[in-house]
Amino acid sequence: MKEPLGVIGAGWVGLVTAACFADLGHDVVVRDVVPERVAELEAGRVPIFEPGLAELLAANGERIRYTLDMADVFERARLAFVCVDTPPTHSGDADLSRVSRVVEELPDLAERMILIMKSTVPVGTGALVRERLDRMGLAHVGYVSNPEFLAEGSGLHDFRNPDRVVVGAFAQRDADAVAALYRFVEAPILQTDVASAEMVKMASNAFLATRVSFINEIANVCEVTGADVEAVARGVGLDHRLGPHFLRAGIGYGGSCFPKDTSALKQLAANSGYHFQLLTAVIEVNELQKRRVVWKLVKHLGSLRGTTIALLGLAFKPNTDDMREASSLVLSARLLADGASIAGYDPVAEEEARKLISGIEFAASAQEALAGADAAVLVTEWPEFAELDFADVAAAMRGQLVVDGRNYLDPAAVRAAGLLYEGIGRPGPNGKDR
Ligand code: UDX
Repeated sequence: MKEPLGVIGAGWVGLVTAACFADLGHDVVVRDVVPERVAELEAGRVPIFEPGLAELLAANGERIRYTLDMADVFERARLAFVCVDTPPTHSGDADLSRVSRVVEELPDLAERMILIMKSTVPVGTGALVRERLDRMGLAHVGYVSNPEFLAEGSGLHDFRNPDRVVVGAFAQRDADAVAALYRFVEAPILQTDVASAEMVKMASNAFLATRVSFINEIANVCEVTGADVEAVARGVGLDHRLGPHFLRAGIGYGGSCFPKDTSALKQLAANSGYHFQLLTAVIEVNELQKRRVVWKLVKHLGSLRGTTIALLGLAFKPNTDDMREASSLVLSARLLADGASIAGYDPVAEEEARKLISGIEFAASAQEALAGADAAVLVTEWPEFAELDFADVAAAMRGQLVVDGRNYLDPAAVRAAGLLYEGIGRPGPNGKDR
């Protein structure tokens, strides 16, 4: 029989973890503090969008139980994943109050149990929790850092096919117990100290964000020099030392991880008296990149006052309804401030978008958003936008400008319909140099 497991926090990471381990045959008790969320999950409704997740939870329903009560988690399980959120505070540090609450609520068990931290936490959190547990007389509760590297939209696949599993522990037997859960993976299982495991997660996300800001700056330089960043990225990516990933130029990164984790790492360094210059620049480049589209629109349309702009896609990336730190948030706020009207369309994220964006029209389809628009901006590379018939687009729009914020469309197809194509770091609107 497989080891029963606990999962504390029924957010995206918690539910993906629960579904995948249940699918491997583990009994899993998932605990959350929000009664409505637990009730929804019990009723078979999954309150987040992740391809395949609802199906996997349903298929393994027999092995998954949801609860509000921490005691239920440890009724049978001796290993529990902590998957609570750690949002940024006003200072840019991570808010660890939910982690603290988990520690406070641990039941009084005499037996050994292990808290396995999956939430992204600043380096040093494990040491703090360890001290706290010891002070509380819970020296028998083990603590392991086991960061997740799952990307939204491909969470199930990433869980089953990780590049590596990182296990940072204070005690070897805890590391071994957690490593044993990942026997199914073919990838290396890296055992480290707790602080290093915590840093692997922060450094990985910071490095990926750095690659994105780097290629975005190269794209901006391509625009003034006449090079095409798509060709440049292919050429750079073929160097085996560099690799092809995370070199897609666009209008900036968003989501629940990169903005939060880069800021947390910057603050962590600053709190220790170190100014992380490179990361500071990465963050600033990203902020400016989110605004570059406005400049492109002004270049073609002049003043934006009284114009109508169609935003195609609102989520921070495709295959998710996550709107956290999405480029569409900054973009829509800037455009509204400049006096434009906005018709936004997203195939999945409208409900989430409505919570964060006000003052724009939400369209039911791409065609509806494009009707009468002076310009269209592709914000999120949803596959359906590649299927657009650009003759129909040209007929529906009032203007001609299509700004492809993700270099996702085929410039030739857009131009063939008589539209002006502007990508990011690609040759000018008529296919020639600027
Ligand atoms: C990321 C990490 O990939 C994952 O390992 C970590 O656990 C959480 O953070 P996620 O935020 O889901 O995952 O999305 P990801 O696919 O990495 O994209 C992040 C952002 O970068 C998106 O806004 C995306 O549009 C942008 N991006 C990514 C680019 O602009 N260019 C790229 O080349 C890649």
